[in-house]
Formats: sequence, C-alpha cells, structure tokens
Amino acid sequence: MSESARPRAAVVGAVNTDLVVRCDALPRPGETVLAGDVERLPGGKGGNQAAALATLGVHTTVVSCVGRDELGEWLLATLEATGADTSLVQRSARPTGTAFITVDAAGENEIVVSRGANADLDLAHVDLDPFNLVLAQMEVPTDVVDELARRTSTLVLNVAPARPVAAATLRRCAVVIANEIEAQALELRELAHCIVTRGSRGAVHYSFGEVVAEVVAPVVDAIDTVGAGDVFCAAYASRYLTHDSPEDSLRFAVTAGALATLARGAQGSLPTTEEVEQWLARAS
Ligand code: RIB
Repeated sequence: MSESARPRAAVVGAVNTDLVVRCDALPRPGETVLAGDVERLPGGKGGNQAAALATLGVHTTVVSCVGRDELGEWLLATLEATGADTSLVQRSARPTGTAFITVDAAGENEIVVSRGANADLDLAHVDLDPFNLVLAQMEVPTDVVDELARRTSTLVLNVAPARPVAAATLRRCAVVIANEIEAQALELRELAHCIVTRGSRGAVHYSFGEVVAEVVAPVVDAIDTVGAGDVFCAAYASRYLTHDSPEDSLRFAVTAGALATLARGAQGSLPTTEEVEQWLARAS
C-alpha cells in the first residue's frame, strides 16, 4: 500500500515512565513487601497503544503532553523508534507522567499513575481531520475526551482507567472498549458498539446490549500482563480501519493482547500484524 493510501490514526493519551517492581505477592493495604530491583520502562496507555498501533503497521500520530525533562525526551525517542509520529506531542512545565507498577509472581499487576504533564493536554491547536480513526483513553483530562467525541465520529475510546464519563460522550463514540470492572459503570444498551475484555477469557462485542461476537483468548504462558489491554485496543483499532468483521477483529485483538504478555514491560512484546496472523493461522 502506498504511503498516501495508508489509513492514519491519532492516539490521544498519556505517555508515562513506568517504574516497575516485581514481588511474590501484591501487598494488601497497610502491608510492606520486598521486591526486586526497580526497572524503568516506557509506558502510559496512550504511549503503549501508539507503539502497538505503529508496530502493527498503521500510520500513527501521538497526541500527548510530556514535561520539559529527560524522561519526556526518552519516551518520545522510544515511540519514534516504533515508527510513531510524535510531532503533535505538547510540552508542559509539569513533570512527565509516571506510573508506579507492582507485578506479582503470576504476572498480575497493580498500577498507580501520577499524570503530571498529561493533565495539561489541550486540543485547541490539534487538527483531527487527517485521521481515519482516533484512539483515546482516560488518563488525559475528561474535557479532552468530551471534545474528541464532539469533534470526530471515529473515536474508539478505551475507558481506562475507570473514571466518570458523560453519557453523551460515550454515545458519540464509534466504539467503547472496557474491561469487566470498567464495564460495570457503563449502560451497555445505550452504546452502538461496546467491547468488553475479559483477560484470559477473551472478549465480547455488544451492540445496544446484544452480543454480536464473542471469542476466547489463546492459552499462553503469560510473563507480564501490563499493557496487554493496550495492545488489544490498538489491534482492534487496526482491524477497525480495515473493516474486518466483528468476530475477526476480536480474534485478532485477543491474540495480539495474549502475545503482548510474553515479555516484561508494557512495550516489551509488541506483535506485528504478520506475527498475529501467523499465530491465528497455526491455531485454525
Ligand atoms: O495499561 C498499562 C499502562 O497503564 C502502564 O504502561 C502505565 O503507564 C499506566 O498508564
């Protein structure tokens, strides 16, 4: 496909430094546990989804905000290495976002995010017209998400982390993607297209509350589930752009999400389209 014919996606979301520690079991409230050495890895739901989308071969532009600090520059360099365009990333006087992540021996995680510069993202000078799809999450200001829903008819919104979203904003989305916890806050019957991810059990596509497609996830030996949901969203968005059927899109996305758990870090195991297709071909 020629460069000019390639569909274009904007990912509007947070770019974070992930500070990751691994321990045997996640601490309960009030408990202190010992962990291994801290790792510094690129992350943020926006950063992860942009890196995944670019790795899948989609022309991807990141709309985010980082601090005027070394971590911001490092994160942008890691995104550019995936092929993502960072020319629309804004700068703020606040520090670049940071996520504090604890991963247990089974690969489960807990995440606390300090949004920093991400909270200053502003769409006033961002032209959305060139994009065939806008993919966003909830680590940016709610106003930004509301504005996206008003300004584009192609918004795929991953409602993570779970935060209140105006019903009108949700109804304007082309697709809403939620995990099972986030979905509890949604009125599925009001949404034209809503996908609920269920971890190792796969995902379900609802249209106005009715099941349209349902797939189970492939069985893999997960090492680290951080960012698997982000890869799911990016992979689903890549299929949305090619107008695949709901079932094929879900199958592609759950497979990509499963493959993303096979290495450490949110961006440590981003699959290409060919890798996902090869996995699907072997499984069929
Ligand atoms: O979805 C995983 C991401 O959530 C991490 O990379 C972290 O930065 C938080 O935003």
